[in-house]
Amino acid sequence: PHFIASETTSSSSNPIKMAQDELKKIAAYKAVEFIKSGMVVGLGTGSTAKHAVDRIGELIQQGVLTDIVGIPTSKKTHEQALSVHIPLSDLDTHPVVDLAIDGADEVDPDLNLVKGRGGSLLREKMIEFASKKFVVIVDETKLVDYIGGSGLAMPVEVVPFCWKFTAHKLELLFKESGCVAKLRICPETGDPFVTDNSNYTIDLFFKKSIGDLKAAGDAILRLPGVVEHGMFIDMATAVIVAGDGGVTVKNK
Ligand code: 5RP
Repeated sequence: PHFIASETTSSSSNPIKMAQDELKKIAAYKAVEFIKSGMVVGLGTGSTAKHAVDRIGELIQQGVLTDIVGIPTSKKTHEQALSVHIPLSDLDTHPVVDLAIDGADEVDPDLNLVKGRGGSLLREKMIEFASKKFVVIVDETKLVDYIGGSGLAMPVEVVPFCWKFTAHKLELLFKESGCVAKLRICPETGDPFVTDNSNYTIDLFFKKSIGDLKAAGDAILRLPGVVEHGMFIDMATAVIVAGDGGVTVKNK
């Protein structure tokens, strides 16, 4: 009965969101300073990463950055990167990425992340796993005391086949943490949200901490029907946080 109606979020034009968007842009521009000509760059997905992609395109146009190859983490970012004329490739051709820049939904004090509320966690994880450096860009609202601490979703990409079975198994796995599993629904159509890889997303909501993240992640991946989860454990090399007090770079 639970497994319904976890909706994707969209940006709004209210002033608070706009101020937040400025902070996202500040973090994104700071991260782009780490890019050097000749690099293979992982291009993230979401409203924060979007600013980084635009900035990279701008610096290429200005001739400040040359010989850049971008590896997009979603179809949406692929389209955006093409529109700003970033030369693109993929992991098959470029299995080693010099630097990836991407947003996150949650960042804990050890720089573990939740990603995928924007729906692209699988490609993001593949590309960020392949990256020598992974720089995360967030505004300060993304900082949490523990993973799941925002009360918002921890997404899991699953195959559509018998997704209710998989959702039920996920809930059972985190029963102690009061887990509720919801199928992500596209607000525009009312249909299940379909990822770039033709899968569904189950959003997990926790009432309490899930404890050992590595053990939790491994248990999720052992469930047949699961493709990947949105916890990025020990993957970030740096997190750039923009807040009212300025920009902070947290290094691993
Ligand atoms: C997409 C992601 C995004 O990076 C994450 O959702 C953060 O998005 P935003 O920058 O829009 O807040 O993981 O799958």
